[in-house]
Amino acid sequence: MNNKPILITGGAGFIGSNFVLQWVQAGGSIVNLDLYTYAGNLENLLALKGNPEHELVHGDICDGSLVAELLREYRPSAILHFAAESHVDRSIASPDEFIRTNVQGTFTLLKQARHYWSSLTGEEKEAFRFLHVSTDEVYGTLEPDAPPFSETTPYAPNNLYAASKAASDHLVRAYFHTYKLPTLTTNCSNNYGPFQLPEKLIPLMILNALEEKPLPVYGDGGNIRDWLFVEDHCSAIAQVLAKGRIGETYNIGGNNERSNLQIVRMICGLVDELAPSKTIGDRSNLIRFVPDRPGHDRRYAMDASKIMREIGWRPSLTLETGLRKTVEWYLEHTEWLEHVRTGAYRDWIHRNYEERAAR
Ligand code: NAD
Ligand code: DAU
Repeated sequence: MNNKPILITGGAGFIGSNFVLQWVQAGGSIVNLDLYTYAGNLENLLALKGNPEHELVHGDICDGSLVAELLREYRPSAILHFAAESHVDRSIASPDEFIRTNVQGTFTLLKQARHYWSSLTGEEKEAFRFLHVSTDEVYGTLEPDAPPFSETTPYAPNNLYAASKAASDHLVRAYFHTYKLPTLTTNCSNNYGPFQLPEKLIPLMILNALEEKPLPVYGDGGNIRDWLFVEDHCSAIAQVLAKGRIGETYNIGGNNERSNLQIVRMICGLVDELAPSKTIGDRSNLIRFVPDRPGHDRRYAMDASKIMREIGWRPSLTLETGLRKTVEWYLEHTEWLEHVRTGAYRDWIHRNYEERAAR
């Protein structure tokens, strides 16, 4: 790690804030550009208040002049691009913002990154990287017995979020091939852990189980995801930044395929153990099957052998340990939870669940 800052986008979100905390703790310096959308939460970064190694900038990645100004002022050694609209259900309800941020925003960053990189010389130019954080959803869905996605699996995005991320990946690829911009792309499976907004499966189920509310499982609950603890994703990104070959993509995953029903049952078991209920003996009794997500991908699974072989990255936690840590974190952070459940959050929960049956 050198002493020049890196510029990160979306560092007030779930994965971005975990990355910022890890990076600064390891002695790094960060400029953090975030729009503070409903998904950005400055409380995730409270531990860094007043820390000179973390500079927060409130702004939009679609604002080319702002991005250019930040690059001129801070001269970062890398851009790490996390910012995105990230929730599939929201992309189905209203896709416009996904195209703006994920496609237009990535294009704006690439354009400004190229301009900045062209102005560098010598070692500074040699060392510069643009690292794009992407997802396994770009590969589409897997049959039950198909091998996991590898870096050569053809793209086949099935929902608006996945399509917008696929478009952004293609833009990154084209900037490398056409202009030789030194890019790296990571495609990761489902993350879970501290600071995840309870609109996503795992924190939503923890919260509802704690409050003894229904646990809404889409369809038959047989959809499979490959889960990775967020800090392991962050360490993978840091290692790809340090050792990745430019122009390459790296798949990241925890080799933890589970059906949604299995995950929800694991959560129920943990919540029953850590916060026993006087009224409901077994939280699994709260599971309710609700109408499915349109176009719901059946199975994701990542083959992470390339990053393991080339970079030497390994996940540090099993799913069982990571999930236990996560449930404990939500039990200890009631104030954080209280604050994220603002009017905007409540509106979304109403829209996605109470209006669901009527659609
Ligand atoms: P998130 O929704 O929790 O956070 C997104 C952050 O980006 C927020 O802080 C938000 O304020 C910011 N942002 C949104 N639009 C912006 C804009 N126009 N300008 C500046 N900032 C903006 O997302 P996350 O779950 O932390 O995901 C981060 C990245 O990782 C995304 O690119 C996502 O596609 C990718 N990813 C997520 C997962 C997962 O399981 N969550 C898995 C693989 C890849
Ligand atoms: O695979 C990586 C992707 O994982 C990331 O790129 C996305 O940003 C991230 O949001 C996540 O997408 P998913 O759609 O897989 O995550 P989500 O937590 O929304 O849903 C996980 C699974 O659980 C999915 O099969 C849908 C199901 N689900 C979700 C919710 C919110 C339910 O059954 N009930 C629910 O209430």
